[in-house]
Amino acid sequence: MPSPAVTRSEYDMSVVRGFAISALVWGVVGMTVGLLAAVQLAAPAFNLSPYLSFGRIRPLHTNAVIFGFTLGTVFASSYYGVQRLCRVRMFSDTLSRINLWGWNAVIVAAAVSLLLGKSTSKEYAELEWPIDIAITVVWVVYAINFFGTIARRREKGMYVAIWFWIATILSIALLHIFNSLERPVSWMKSYSIYAGLYDANIQWWYGHNAVGFLLTTPILGMMYYFLPKQAGRPIFSHRLSIVHFWSLIFLYMWAGPHHLIYSPLPDWTQTLATGFSVMLILPSWGGMLNGLLTLRGAWDKLRTDPILKLFAVGITFYGMSTFEGPMMAVKTVNSLSHFTNWTIGHVHSGALGWVALTCFGALYYMIPRLWHTQLYSQRLAELHFWIATLGLVTYVTSMWVSGITQGLMWRAVNPDGSLAYTFIESVAAIHIYDWIRAAGGVLFLSGALLMFYNVVMTIRQGSAGVPEGLPAGAVPVAGGR
Ligand code: HEM
Ligand code: HEM
Repeated sequence: MPSPAVTRSEYDMSVVRGFAISALVWGVVGMTVGLLAAVQLAAPAFNLSPYLSFGRIRPLHTNAVIFGFTLGTVFASSYYGVQRLCRVRMFSDTLSRINLWGWNAVIVAAAVSLLLGKSTSKEYAELEWPIDIAITVVWVVYAINFFGTIARRREKGMYVAIWFWIATILSIALLHIFNSLERPVSWMKSYSIYAGLYDANIQWWYGHNAVGFLLTTPILGMMYYFLPKQAGRPIFSHRLSIVHFWSLIFLYMWAGPHHLIYSPLPDWTQTLATGFSVMLILPSWGGMLNGLLTLRGAWDKLRTDPILKLFAVGITFYGMSTFEGPMMAVKTVNSLSHFTNWTIGHVHSGALGWVALTCFGALYYMIPRLWHTQLYSQRLAELHFWIATLGLVTYVTSMWVSGITQGLMWRAVNPDGSLAYTFIESVAAIHIYDWIRAAGGVLFLSGALLMFYNVVMTIRQGSAGVPEGLPAGAVPVAGGR
């Protein structure tokens, strides 16, 4: 029996609108700060001590782009998708509001405290204990709201996008709580309960899985939700989506020590992580292929559709970074890449290529629908796509060349065994690439600013309420998917 039709006005879209706007704002802030960091690496005079010194703005950049922009888009798209996929309004409007305002308050607190130099010094978990507690509360609120909605769903089956969002909710809770266990010594200072090597191991179990469950699974959820809709095609294979879902979440958890290769961590743990990292190619490419093959029969649409272009290039970069990552986890390759800009190139091929482009695509998809209008300008969106792609390719390739140059110079030895180059010679050799990366950043940020303008104009011409001329709740949701 098909479940009764639900009309769009029954869904709570205000929380989605809120997160879509906040994600864009934090995206522009985070990328501007990223550009400042890039310029500082090329021209140290731009270190404006103490508040805008590199040590403070680098974590500000990562927190703003990961927790403000990416997670904001994840909240928006999961709230958008879960209601439609379950054909039911969110479990609680109050919890949705707490999630929206609470999360944005967390990001503001993060930005202020990082600029003031308050940090636990654990990468991607720099925030001090009161903020950690606030994060836990907001996350539990999100979880209750999400699972409550699923529990009340009117659609029997659970589409795979929901599974990817569930994996995010459960894993991030686990990771955040265990990595943040700390002993407060004052209201803005704490010490981790782990020491030495244990601390490093837990930290990179967390750090790697933050990549897996913040920068991968929820983005795959977006891919599975928005790509078939925009392409007008069903996903290539439901079976493949289920197989790669379970294998991905199983394999990710064991790969953390690939961040600690050649460290004092027991050798077998490092080898285990390398093994699991190499195996990760399979589920990752399963996801990539399922995405790309969904476009079969719709490739011609790419010529005119900037949203599909963003998704297609995003998925391609997912494939490239998940081939590169396992390679970098092999000890011999890691001995060259570790500590160099190659890692930064890898990070941004995933972060700009896969994560940011997919988030842009999802926001372009949702925003006109949220304000019941058309996108203000397709041509600006098209321009955004090209500038962003050019910017990210410039960024990533400059960092690859820079990183390999660094790695090779550091290991070069003279016949008598002494080092062939001093460290400062390697710094001088990569200087030009620092500038090229900054140029890539200018392009990528310009694209984001174009999008911001396009979105503001779209919102101005649209309306948040039900469009005029239609009775309340008149727009039926065909199929709920
Ligand atoms: C205009 C765009 C961007 C620019 C110019 C930029 C620039 C930078 C710079 C200069 C660093 C520090 C590199 C170093 O310490 O050597 C960095 C680090 C980082 N950025 Fe970006 N970034 C941008 C966008 C993004 C986005 C959108 C994301 C995520 C969605 C992201 C995620 C990261 C991460 C995770 C790191 C830390 C990398 C590591 O520790 O290995 N960035 N970025
Ligand atoms: C099969 C998937 C992947 C594997 C096996 C993998 C593996 C690796 C390895 C070996 C490193 C270098 C560790 C080091 O030498 O310190 C690394 C760094 C990193 N990767 Fe990946 N990667 C994968 C996919 C991705 C994706 C898709 C993203 C982003 C969306 C990403 C983001 C990062 C970040 C942020 C770091 C830097 C961490 C830090 O040092 O701060 N990775 N990855």
